[in-house]
Amino acid sequence: MNNKSGPTVDAVEVERHSELKNNWWMPNGSVPCLHSMNDLRIPYIIDGITSTKSIENAALPLANIKILDIGCGGGLVSEPLAKLGANVTGIDPSQELIDLAIEHSQNIGPNKPTYYCTTLEEHAPSHQNYYDAIVASEVISHLVNKELFFELCAETLKPGGKIFITAPNKTWLAYFFGIYVAENILKVVAKGLHDYEKFISPEDVSRILEKKNCRVDNTRGLIYYPFLHKWQWMYFKSLWYALEATKLE
Ligand SMILES: C[S@@+](CC[C@H](N)C(=O)[O-])C[C@H]1O[C@@H](n2cnc3c(N)ncnc32)[C@H](O)[C@@H]1O
Repeated sequence: MNNKSGPTVDAVEVERHSELKNNWWMPNGSVPCLHSMNDLRIPYIIDGITSTKSIENAALPLANIKILDIGCGGGLVSEPLAKLGANVTGIDPSQELIDLAIEHSQNIGPNKPTYYCTTLEEHAPSHQNYYDAIVASEVISHLVNKELFFELCAETLKPGGKIFITAPNKTWLAYFFGIYVAENILKVVAKGLHDYEKFISPEDVSRILEKKNCRVDNTRGLIYYPFLHKWQWMYFKSLWYALEATKLE
């Protein structure tokens, strides 16, 4: 396969995700937690973006907003953002997942995301100060060289642009429930998909982003109820978290 490699890429991780492509878009398929997370993460992204911009068209609140969805996989986040009017670019090092994302977007209407099989390190040099927002949802726990990753995120954002992250925390509680229970007992996550060594805490993400001229606006805790197939916000960030930051002028 023509997967992309680069300084942030762990090829084994990309291969593991590519293997999930067949049932990616089925709500009870290979990535069920990602489907149900949309109920929280899409409104979180909309609220974050529209908090600093006036909405001209209520039906398309993200019209004319340029969003980079990094590690877009099969397009679960890119598509709903495009349907809200955003000009979405989705990138992923997995060729198979990009092929799937392109195929799946054929019937969503005229405003389709643009997808590229590439890495942020390849994309960033030609897109400096370009995007209004970046989304890296359930991606940073699968990549290496996080300092470089966030440096490139900051470079591709316009001043005042927003970055939205969701990720598991680096705690024993996240290890126990997010890896051991989720992969071995509940089987709601494919076995071997998460590597605790790559997890990163919201404090460490904040520290790196602040060094890269970004201000962290908020972090929020998330919890998944597997039997209800539902995520919920919670004050407690020891399991999963969402983080919103702004690139300073
Ligand atoms: C758990 S999936 C999340 C997909 C999508 N963001 C979502 O939430 O529906 C993680 C994705 O990150 C991609 N990925 C792995 N390493 C990456 C890297 N270094 N840069 C960008 N994406 C990467 C994988 O190929 C996979 O599609």
